[in-house]
Amino acid sequence: MSGAADRLAVVVLISGSGTNLQALIDAAADDGRFTVACVISNRADAGGLARAAAAGIPTRVVDHTRYADRAGFDSALGDAIDACGAQLIVLAGFMRILTDALVARFRGRMLNIHPSLLPAFQGLHTHRRALEAGVREHGASVHFVTAELDGGPVIAQARVPVLAGDDAATLAARVLAREHVLLPEVVRWYADGRLEMRDGRAWLDGAAIETPRQC
Ligand code: GRF
Repeated sequence: MSGAADRLAVVVLISGSGTNLQALIDAAADDGRFTVACVISNRADAGGLARAAAAGIPTRVVDHTRYADRAGFDSALGDAIDACGAQLIVLAGFMRILTDALVARFRGRMLNIHPSLLPAFQGLHTHRRALEAGVREHGASVHFVTAELDGGPVIAQARVPVLAGDDAATLAARVLAREHVLLPEVVRWYADGRLEMRDGRAWLDGAAIETPRQC
């Protein structure tokens, strides 16, 4: 196995329980293609911080309430990301809208997982909205982060059926289980040098992704 210095250094940004972070920690331990170098949260009470600590991963809290404005927070957040030596930044349930300046700073090096089949249901409360819309299929998407919220080029998706009797919680649980497979898979592609963003598009193995890969 290669040494830690040879592996892609991934920094994961969280705000909550961090089950996707856990999936990345487990994948990193299993196949060693990348390492979770640091976990950054905007909330000191995020459950994912304990997951990181249990795995011996350094953590940082950049508390958005301590900054006068979004620009100040994002500047501090960007500095924290750089201080971790991040090669790839993964937003895994990070519940802050980023400024254009921060997105530009890490352009092509930042992924987000969103709990819908983008471009459907950008923004919040995706599971409830999917049920209200009566869709038969729902899921999650991983995309490169651009200035447009949940609007960057989609790399891959996981699809689940919407079942009779579903409520937002049952549907969310079905999607989340698939997120835990989807997100590590896309990070592996990036770690293996197969994935990039160029000309505003996502490219895998040298070909522009026209239709998101299904995982
Ligand atoms: C996931 O559903 C993710 O898609 C969304 O926020 C949730 C985070 O869950 N962005 P967890 O903190 O990884 O458990």
